[in-house]
Amino acid sequence: MCQKKLQHLPRNIAIDGPAASGKTTIGTLVANKIGYMCLDTGIMYRAVAFQALREGIDIADEAAVTSLAERIDIDILPASSQDGRQFDVMINGEDRTWDIRTAAVNAVVSEVSAYPGVRKAMTRQQRKIAEKGKIVMIGRDIGTVVLPDAELKIYLDASVEVRAQRRYIEDLSHGKDACLEDVVESLRHRDEIDSGRSVAPLKAAEDAVIINSDNMTVYEVVEYVMELLEKRG
Ligand code: DC
Repeated sequence: MCQKKLQHLPRNIAIDGPAASGKTTIGTLVANKIGYMCLDTGIMYRAVAFQALREGIDIADEAAVTSLAERIDIDILPASSQDGRQFDVMINGEDRTWDIRTAAVNAVVSEVSAYPGVRKAMTRQQRKIAEKGKIVMIGRDIGTVVLPDAELKIYLDASVEVRAQRRYIEDLSHGKDACLEDVVESLRHRDEIDSGRSVAPLKAAEDAVIINSDNMTVYEVVEYVMELLEKRG
């Protein structure tokens, strides 16, 4: 699609949806097409979870995890190597791009991100980043809580089976020793916690466009989002 057709672009775009629904892939491609920055806020919750494990903090200790979230230094920089990363994730000055994607982090990140104090600290940072505009922000609560005024909100969904299959193939392609049943189980577990928490649960904003990508290719989803932008422009 030709970018010239887009007369008016939204100041910010929110993309929410369950784990492994393709939010980052779609968000990055759309952002590249329109010259926006893309921020996957899941990285921030993963960073807190990783650092808590690293510092030996008991994940059940809400006060300690919250205090960590308030002092952690997370930076997202342009990719420094071509190993499949889209950017570098720096935690307290160290490159932790892949460390935040381990099964150990997957197992605790939903618990960490359910703590209200952790969410408050991360939401504050996310709003600050979005202040400049021209951002595609990805997460679970972007359209509902972080940027409720975003002009375009997408809720990207897919069945757990399809999401697990995609994540499994992705894991294998990164040389991980993956098991499909484990991936299904892990996604179900995270969906349950993400949707059931009391603060900022995973759900579509009332004014979000819901896209179920079960039978859509990445290309088709991106084209659909570009059409939405064109219609709104
Ligand atoms: O998108 P992801 O799988 O990298 O997200 C990791 C976890 O962070 C996920 O379990 C839910 C949580 N999360 C959240 O609660 N709010 C966000 N805005 C982004 C992610």
